Amino acid sequence: MEENDHSQPHEVLAIFAQNSVMIVEYQHKTFTIQRYPKTGNRSLRAWSAADEFLLDVLADENIQKRKMIIANDRFGFLSTLLHNHEPFTVMSYRSQEKACALNLTENKLRINKSLWVKPLEQWPEKIDIGVIKIPKSLELYRYYLHELSQVLTEDGVIYAAFMTRFFSPKMVSIANEYFEEVEQTQAWKKSRLLILKKKKPLPQYNFIRKIEAGDEIMLSNYPGVFSAHSVDTASKLLIDNLQLSENDKRVLDLASGNGILAAVISKKFPSIEMHLLDDFLLAVESSKLNLSGNCHFHYNDNLDDFEPGFFDKIVSNPPFHFEYETNIEVALSIFKGASRCLKPEGIFQVVANRHLNYKTHLVKLFDGVEIIAENDKFIVYNCSKPVTDRPV
Ligand SMILES: C[S@@+](CC[C@H](N)C(=O)[O-])C[C@H]1O[C@@H](n2cnc3c(N)ncnc32)[C@H](O)[C@@H]1O
Repeated sequence: MEENDHSQPHEVLAIFAQNSVMIVEYQHKTFTIQRYPKTGNRSLRAWSAADEFLLDVLADENIQKRKMIIANDRFGFLSTLLHNHEPFTVMSYRSQEKACALNLTENKLRINKSLWVKPLEQWPEKIDIGVIKIPKSLELYRYYLHELSQVLTEDGVIYAAFMTRFFSPKMVSIANEYFEEVEQTQAWKKSRLLILKKKKPLPQYNFIRKIEAGDEIMLSNYPGVFSAHSVDTASKLLIDNLQLSENDKRVLDLASGNGILAAVISKKFPSIEMHLLDDFLLAVESSKLNLSGNCHFHYNDNLDDFEPGFFDKIVSNPPFHFEYETNIEVALSIFKGASRCLKPEGIFQVVANRHLNYKTHLVKLFDGVEIIAENDKFIVYNCSKPVTDRPV
């Protein structure tokens, strides 16, 4: 514990692990909690001490009959444990919706989708308590605060939690722009809370960042979108080595972010039917601002909605950072989807950091895996001949 840790929490969570499912006790009730997608990495958890700290403080508050909204609850941990208070939950990721639904179902709790709130849509009015797990993107944190402060009652309160090792003074300075009172608690189990009260007049803020992507392509980005301030260097390498032609009828930009790869392809070959798929709603919405014409947008975390052999080409700069975690399991799972949804004569072009050594994984899914470009940091692979009889 840190030296200045505050006293023991009043609500102790008893936690045991059974395979990948954790058993948690909160306020004399027992819950099972798991991650979606599942992970083989036992060190990755569905929540942190910052979530426990939030629950502890909320247990002390009289939250009965007070309207609550939770933001950035990636695996539905808070929404599940606080279910009897019927909190609203801001759903920013398709995988978050699935994780939340899984945990509620496994605990035999009702899924009430009318309590799911989407960014960019009108948030419910007269919120008494806002609960935020501060996201890594401080633009996204600001966006949640901005939305919340508009619907918070005059005597409402926001609890924003973070792990102390990820603290940035900007977390406080941004909060100060929206609230008169910003109190920072002492640490508990290396986590802290910011407690925000007394709204200030809403500051003006333009949340859309515009960047030049070359070739007269301008890209708009909502908060939290990957590489919203400049074009990513891995994406650049892939763009310089894209291999498409007029004969490609249907192409997928897999993990499309702001849609940069699709925008470059569509500009060069307007007749191609472009599909873009991303797990993050604000990424999909950004790409809708950036592309028009023969484009289809898919808000999803996998390729299950596509028929086998649906695409002539698939291009991707896949994810491996999730908030503060590094994890290649998601990339490997979408590679499987790419292999299934590619035509037998199609090509999957993927760029990745050298150290991830994706070739060892790609050769299990494609009979042809070739390096077509590389530099000291990144590699572009061309994957052909998808394996059809691979183990499921
Ligand atoms: C490295 S970024 C690439 C974005 C864009 N293609 C570019 O080059 O700038 C990876 C993207 O994967 C998205 N992502 C994360 N998990 C995903 C999943 N399971 N399915 C689809 N997209 C996912 C992230 O939201 C992010 O936009």
